[in-house]
Amino acid sequence: MLQVENLDAYYDKAKILDKINLNVEEGEVVAILGPNGAGKTTLLKSICGLVNVKGEVYLNGEKITDLKPHERIKRGISICPEGRRLFPNMSVEDNLLMGAIFNGNYKKNLEYVFKLFPRLKERRKQSAKTMSGGEQQMLAIGRALMSEPRLLLLDEPSMGLAPIVIESIAEALKRIKEELKVSMLIVEQNIHLAFEVADRAYILTKGKIIKESYVDELKDLEEDYFKA
Ligand SMILES: Nc1ncnc2c1ncn2[C@@H]1O[C@H](COP(=O)(O)OP(=O)(O)OP(=O)(O)O)[C@@H](O)[C@H]1O
Ligand SMILES: [Mg+2]
Repeated sequence: MLQVENLDAYYDKAKILDKINLNVEEGEVVAILGPNGAGKTTLLKSICGLVNVKGEVYLNGEKITDLKPHERIKRGISICPEGRRLFPNMSVEDNLLMGAIFNGNYKKNLEYVFKLFPRLKERRKQSAKTMSGGEQQMLAIGRALMSEPRLLLLDEPSMGLAPIVIESIAEALKRIKEELKVSMLIVEQNIHLAFEVADRAYILTKGKIIKESYVDELKDLEEDYFKA
């Protein structure tokens, strides 16, 4: 469903990603693991069309490398960004509706998000900035689902959350995978979440993929391996 071929990414002249090759199959959940500054966020931004790149990105066989971000959203790519990037003064419900800006099925999608995260329904009139960290992450995921993605990109959904909250986020992602059959690319530094949800993983260090493996085969490695 997603294919990235020989992708280099640049900020001005600084090369951040070097010859990245990766793929995500239909319905598959793939994790990108790697230390701070490895280029994980840059990789997700490249797939969304927010960074200058060389190389190619294909979605369902169509070359999308030159498409604008909103054209990629219409084709089924959605991102739950690093640090959530909610609209802090807007209500929970309005944040969700912002995610449906290119999608006419907002009623059905809102119903699904409220079923997945009943807490958001209870608090739908509350402003986003007054929600707890875990609730804000649920809201960011819910907003990303409002465009009915076929490929959901998640940038460190566990960031700043307590282990028990991370567990509930992992459960929600597993439900999304099962119920919506959405393909996902999850950037994580929390290997527990990644291993619980993902089928396969790539390890990214200093802009290069140094390893690709099924998650089952990575479980025996020491945690420090992923921070090197
Ligand atoms: N807008 C930008 N302009 C210039 N350099 C940038 C920009 N954004 C990121 N970088 C640089 O690109 C490199 C990779 O950053 P990126 O945010 O992709 O890493 P990351 O793996 O997501 O890290 P983290 O785990 O801390 O989120 C870093 O050296 C960073 O300083
Ligand atoms: Mg990042």
